[in-house]
Amino acid sequence: MRLVSGRTRLHKATALAAGAIMTAGLSLVGATPANAAVACDVSYQIANQWDSGFQANITIRNLGDAWTSWDLRFNFTGGQQLQQGWGGRWSQSGTEVQVQNESWNGSVPSGGTVTGLGFLGSWSGSNPVPTSFTVNGVTCGGEGPSTPPTTPPSTPPSTPPTSTPTGTPTTSLPPPPPPGTHVDNPYIGATVYRNPDYVARVEQAAQEIGGTLGAAAARVAQYPTAIWLDRIAAIEGSGGNRGLRDHLDLAASQASEDNPVVVQIVIYDLPNRDCAAAASNGELLISQDGERRYREEYIDPIVSILRDPAYRNLRIVTFVEPDSLPNLVTNLDTPACAEANSTGAYVEGIQYAVNQLTQQDNVYIYLDIAHSGWLGWDNNFNDAVSLYRRTIQGFDGGLQAIDGFVTNTANYTPLEEPFLTNPNLTVGGQQVRSANFYEWNPMFDELDFALAWRNAFASGGSHIGMIIDTSRNGWGGPDRPTSVSSSNDLNTYVNQSRIDRRPHRGGWCNQIGAGIGERPTAAPVSGIDAYVWVKPPGESDGVSQDGIIDPDDPNKRFDAMCDPNGQSHYNSAYPTNAMPDAPHAGRWFQAQFEMLVRNAYPAL
Ligand code: GLC
Repeated sequence: MRLVSGRTRLHKATALAAGAIMTAGLSLVGATPANAAVACDVSYQIANQWDSGFQANITIRNLGDAWTSWDLRFNFTGGQQLQQGWGGRWSQSGTEVQVQNESWNGSVPSGGTVTGLGFLGSWSGSNPVPTSFTVNGVTCGGEGPSTPPTTPPSTPPSTPPTSTPTGTPTTSLPPPPPPGTHVDNPYIGATVYRNPDYVARVEQAAQEIGGTLGAAAARVAQYPTAIWLDRIAAIEGSGGNRGLRDHLDLAASQASEDNPVVVQIVIYDLPNRDCAAAASNGELLISQDGERRYREEYIDPIVSILRDPAYRNLRIVTFVEPDSLPNLVTNLDTPACAEANSTGAYVEGIQYAVNQLTQQDNVYIYLDIAHSGWLGWDNNFNDAVSLYRRTIQGFDGGLQAIDGFVTNTANYTPLEEPFLTNPNLTVGGQQVRSANFYEWNPMFDELDFALAWRNAFASGGSHIGMIIDTSRNGWGGPDRPTSVSSSNDLNTYVNQSRIDRRPHRGGWCNQIGAGIGERPTAAPVSGIDAYVWVKPPGESDGVSQDGIIDPDDPNKRFDAMCDPNGQSHYNSAYPTNAMPDAPHAGRWFQAQFEMLVRNAYPAL
C-alpha cells in the first residue's frame, strides 16, 4: 500500500551559491480590505548563473483564499537588474521587482500554484536571493536563508532596525515529508523536468523560423513535455534520443529534498497498440507472444530503473497507455481491438503495469481516458466507467493504487468552449448538443469531461486528480470566434461560436488550424492536478501518405485519417482536416510546429 498524504510538503529555506532554492515563508495570513485571507509561499530558484547573468524561476503558492489576480513584489539586495521575464508582467523600479499576472493565470484557487514564472537578470559582485516576498500586499515570509551569506556585509548596519519584523510565523508547522513520500498532487511545489532532446529540437526549429515568430517559437522550449517510452528501445535510448536513465540522472541532478523534480513518462507499448488505427501501431503483437514481452521486456526493465534509490527525490509521473481501454469501449468491430479484448491483453497488461509501478512511493500513475469527443456521449461514458472500474479492481489497492486520470493526450479538444457553455440550450427550437458538430454528445470540452469523470470516481477516491494535455488545444489565430453567434439556425450558431475549428470532432491527425494551448500549470482548477504537455508540440501524429517506411520504427503505418485529401473515417461527410507532407508519428514536423506557434492561445 502506498501512503497518500493529502498534505503539501513545506520547504526549508536554503541558499546555495548556484541552483539556490529559497522558499520564503509559510502561511502568513493577513487581512485585505475585502476580508479575504491572503497567504502565500514563494519559491525562488536560481536555475543558472554565469559571468554577469542569471536565470531564476519562481513558483507562487496560494495558501489562502482564491485570487482573481496577483501582484508579487520582492527586492534585489545585490544591485541585480531584471532583463526579461515570462509568465507574468515584469517590471523593476529601483530595487523593487513587481510581477503581475497575465490575463490567463490571474485566477488561482486556494491551494493552487502559479508556475512557469521566471526571468533573466544581470548581477555583479554577488547575487543574493531575495529574502522577502509579498503577494497582493501581504508578506509571504518570515524565514530568511538558513545559511549565512558567504560574504559578510563590509560595514555593519549603522542603525539597528527600529521595528520588529512582522513576518515571524507563530504557528508551528508539520515537518516536511521525507523525500519520495507520496503527495496528493505531485505538481505542487515541484519543478517539472524538460526533455533536453526536445528543447534542442525546438531551439533549432525556432532559428529556422526566425523573426518575431521565431522568438515566440523559442519560448516553447521553456515548458516541460513528457518522455514517450513508445518502444522497448526507447528505454535505453534510440534514434539519437536519450534513454530513461539519462533523463532520470539529469533530473536527479536538479532535484534535492527541498526541490522535488517531476519527470513525466508515457507508458505506451501494449501489444496490438493503437488497435483501431495504423499511425501509431506498436512493435508487439498479441499473436506473437506480445503479452509476455510487454511484461518482461518493457514494464520490468522500466520499473527496475525507476527503483534506483538515486531517483528518490524525483516524482515520477506516468501516463498509462493512451487510447487503449477507450478502444475497447467503442472499437470492438476492429479485429485487432477485438483480440485485445478477448485475450484480456489490454486490461491485464495495464493491471500488470500499475501493480509494478504502484509499489514505489515516488511513482505517480494517471490512466489515460481519451477525450470528450470520444467518450463524452452518455453511453460511451458509462461503458467506459464500468470498464475502468473492472480494470481498477485488479490493481493492488484498487483505486488507491493510482493518482488519477489524464485526458486529451495528443488530442485537440479545447479546455473550454467559452461561447457554448450549455449543451441543452435551445437555438431555433433544437438543443445545441444536437448540432452536427456535437452529434448529441453533451461534453463539449475537456474540463467538463474531466470533472464529470472525476465525479464518477468520487466515492473512495477523493485523492483522484485529473490531468489535461493542453499541448495543442489552443485554437487561437484569426479564425477564433470572439463572441457568441446571433444566428437562429442551430448549425450556423454552433459553427460560428465554437473555438474548436475542426470540421469534425473525430479529426485527430495533424489538425489544420490548431495552436498550442494553456501553458503547463499545477492545480489550475479544483480537481485538476495539472495542465501538462504530454504530446510534444511539433511531433507528427502520423504520416500523410502511404508507402513510406520509418526505418527506426517500421510498425508505424499510414492511416487514412492522416490523408490530407481524404474524408473522415468516422463521418464521411467531413474531410480529415490533416496537414499535408507529414512525417511518421513522433517525427519532427516543422510546418505543424510553426502553425501551432502561430495559433497558440494564449499567445506565446
Ligand atoms: C505518437 C507516436 C510516438 C511518439 C508520440 C509523441 O503517439 O506513435 O512514437 O513518441 O506520438 O510524439
